[in-house]
Amino acid sequence: MRVLIVGGGGREHALGWKIAQSPLLSKLYFSPGNPGTEGLGSNVQLMDQAAMVQFAADESIDLVVVGPEKELVDGIADALALKGIPCFGPSKAAAQLEGSKAFSKEVMDRVGVPTAKYGAFTDYDQACKFLEKMGLPVVIKADGLASGKGVTICQTRDQGKAALKEAMLDQRFGSAGNMVVIEEFLTGTEASFHVITDGERLLRLPTAQDHKALGEGNTGPNTGGMGTCSPNPVWTERMSDEVMESVAGPIIDYMRDQGMPFRGVLFIGLMLTWHGPKVLEFNVRFGDPETQVMMPRIKTDLLPVLFQSARGRLEVQDLEIDPQHAVCVVLSAAGYPDSPRKGDVITGIPESGPDQVVFHAGTAHGRDHEVITSGGRVMGATAWAGNLETARKRAYKVANQVQFEGKYMRKDIGLK
Ligand code: AMP
Ligand code: GLY
Repeated sequence: MRVLIVGGGGREHALGWKIAQSPLLSKLYFSPGNPGTEGLGSNVQLMDQAAMVQFAADESIDLVVVGPEKELVDGIADALALKGIPCFGPSKAAAQLEGSKAFSKEVMDRVGVPTAKYGAFTDYDQACKFLEKMGLPVVIKADGLASGKGVTICQTRDQGKAALKEAMLDQRFGSAGNMVVIEEFLTGTEASFHVITDGERLLRLPTAQDHKALGEGNTGPNTGGMGTCSPNPVWTERMSDEVMESVAGPIIDYMRDQGMPFRGVLFIGLMLTWHGPKVLEFNVRFGDPETQVMMPRIKTDLLPVLFQSARGRLEVQDLEIDPQHAVCVVLSAAGYPDSPRKGDVITGIPESGPDQVVFHAGTAHGRDHEVITSGGRVMGATAWAGNLETARKRAYKVANQVQFEGKYMRKDIGLK
């Protein structure tokens, strides 16, 4: 099979690493990929969605696997479908589950999924009135995609009003803030649960725990994720059953009944509260850096699974999951998440081995072909072992070998 992976982060490197192990693969492309994906396939620079679709048609691509949500929300699956090219990832209509927070909250309400109480507003004055009635802290979210920056946790009503003004009147997130969701603050531990679906059948992926805050002990600003472990140490099999029964199944059924069948991966972001798991958000793509710890634990050949999901006919019944523990430690650049420094030379990147791999994310080639930093989350040092402690030590050993000016990592990934 000839496969094109869209995206260039750690998630796409990890997906490519797994897909490259499939005996069914004949050719692998990444657009744009990164220096880490060069060893797995060919990186191609396709400027926009039209160019990607044209490339897929010209190169007789059998399957396009889409990493980032933006392309899906912009309708790449629909554009590929017009050319008869299977795409792993939902249609534009189904991608609204991530593309519009108001849409996803409404769907959750209709289906009766446990989630935070909320209101959705396009009018600033009405939003302010609703805010007065909410307890504190309160969460304000821009409705549309805002590169992970659209969520503000407000400790006071004044902060809440300022966040509403920024989103709705000052257009800080552009049109993504024309509508806002004001939501009850949930306390607990966050968890990531993924299912692959063809719109009807569901396959569970390994559980994962992300570490969103920049600082140790979950302090400091929120990031895209500073590290992950799989399995999630605070997760139980019962929670999987509960989330399958009360969230994943009903949501997929609802989307199908509404004429928007969801094909691809549904990433359910959860808060494990005293009252049970509640949904924080849906993502219509794999988590990053969750993928970096899920892929090493999947024993089943993933390529036919992704293809079957894209074609709307999952035949694989279950994924075989390795009981080992995997840990990914994100190495970030100085200044992340606000203004990451770029251009620092990276050295000491260890070779991949049977129980470790460094997934590239924000990296590029410098003038002399050296690898340099080019984004906030630079790499994910990933390792696995029979127990969490050994996996953790191995991942940190790898993380310590990589050197670049301003390198930062959390020291407590997988400690809880
Ligand atoms: P979202 O994009 O909706 O997942 O929000 C990003 C992050 O903000 C989440 O991963 C949580 O850390 C935090 N967050 C979002 N909604 C809530 C909430 N209702 N209560 C507490 N934290 C939240
Ligand atoms: N790691 C969280 C996300 O991918 O959204």
